[in-house]
Amino acid sequence: MSKKRIFILGVGAVGKNLLLNIKNNTMNFNFDEHFRIIGAADSRSIILGEEGISPENLLSAKMEGALENAGSKTARLPNPDEVDILIDASTASKDGLRETNIYKDFLLAGKSVVTSNKSPLANFWPEVMNFSKEGKGNILYESTVCGGLPLFNMVRSSLHGMKIMQFSGIVNLTTNYILEIMRRGGRMDEAIQDAIREGFAETDYSDDVTGLDSARKSIIISNSLFGTEFRLRNLKYEGITSSIEFENGSRKMLLSTVTRRDDEIIVESRIRNVNKNENFYNLGPKSMAYELKPSGRSAIFVSEDFDGPVETSLGVLSDIIALA
Ligand SMILES: NC(=O)c1ccc[n+]([C@@H]2O[C@H](COP(=O)([O-])OP(=O)(O)OC[C@H]3O[C@@H](n4cnc5c(N)ncnc54)[C@H](OP(=O)(O)O)[C@@H]3O)[C@@H](O)[C@H]2O)c1
Repeated sequence: MSKKRIFILGVGAVGKNLLLNIKNNTMNFNFDEHFRIIGAADSRSIILGEEGISPENLLSAKMEGALENAGSKTARLPNPDEVDILIDASTASKDGLRETNIYKDFLLAGKSVVTSNKSPLANFWPEVMNFSKEGKGNILYESTVCGGLPLFNMVRSSLHGMKIMQFSGIVNLTTNYILEIMRRGGRMDEAIQDAIREGFAETDYSDDVTGLDSARKSIIISNSLFGTEFRLRNLKYEGITSSIEFENGSRKMLLSTVTRRDDEIIVESRIRNVNKNENFYNLGPKSMAYELKPSGRSAIFVSEDFDGPVETSLGVLSDIIALA
């Protein structure tokens, strides 16, 4: 059996944790039997090593600040015929165009794309899905929303045919952490620094604070779970400021909500009061959680105490393993 060739775009917090998890055999799966990493890129270099690059070598080269120490430096990304699976753990571009153009080549050539990067799917969902359909290349995007908390794959595998009436969730940890620290009397700038230090803030944390990250995810949720073809540019969304006021007996959260009302699907990404009788109220400040309301049955609530780059990288790894 020939091993599937993997190229990794982005060796930052998620990319490095992905390599660490492969190296440490965190999953109950023999990675080397099925896959071979043949290259990687960061913002400065692209490297290739057709015989296979070990996660150890790639990690230490990245830590030394010279990716090229792990392979031969090249000027361009590999052609789709040189790769079977493209992993996108790169920084989200504002308009998603750079990533979408790369996905286009790979998906149309029948190659798989696994991504934790939201921007291409939030901006170009219809195009990306059409490339996938036309070229028969898989696009897997579990960790674009809620990081490592299972959502899309779980719905796909365990709720076959279920009509979802509403999704609501904490999909951006940073903003909800900041809101909770502020409610407890802390300062917004200090909470942002905590989020950067612990690695759960976006590289450009303004994407979190302005609500852009949560808005991108809301679009992906709507398109994936409710069958819409929305684009980020059509969504009015809210972010947080240091002047937010809190009321006694309730919390404030930036929630992503998608609601099915008759034939209409309504997407929102805004701050609202969360009262004591709601599941979200009792969560810790670093929790990620969502509630699904399917038709004809009680609501499903899924939560975890923390989600950062480690959890996200495990979501990416799970998508890769699904392609074995
Ligand atoms: N961190 C999380 O918990 C989390 C959760 C869910 C989703 N995500 C998403 O996952 C992606 C990666 O997140 P992260 O936290 O790992 O970000 P990060 O630490 O900033 O790493 C981003 C990586 O992308 C590289 N990069 C930037 N521009 C590039 C380009 N044009 N071509 C190739 N590589 C490029 C960077 O290169 P340099 O190393 O040279 O800077 C870096 O290695 C982002 O899209 C993020 O939104 C992250």
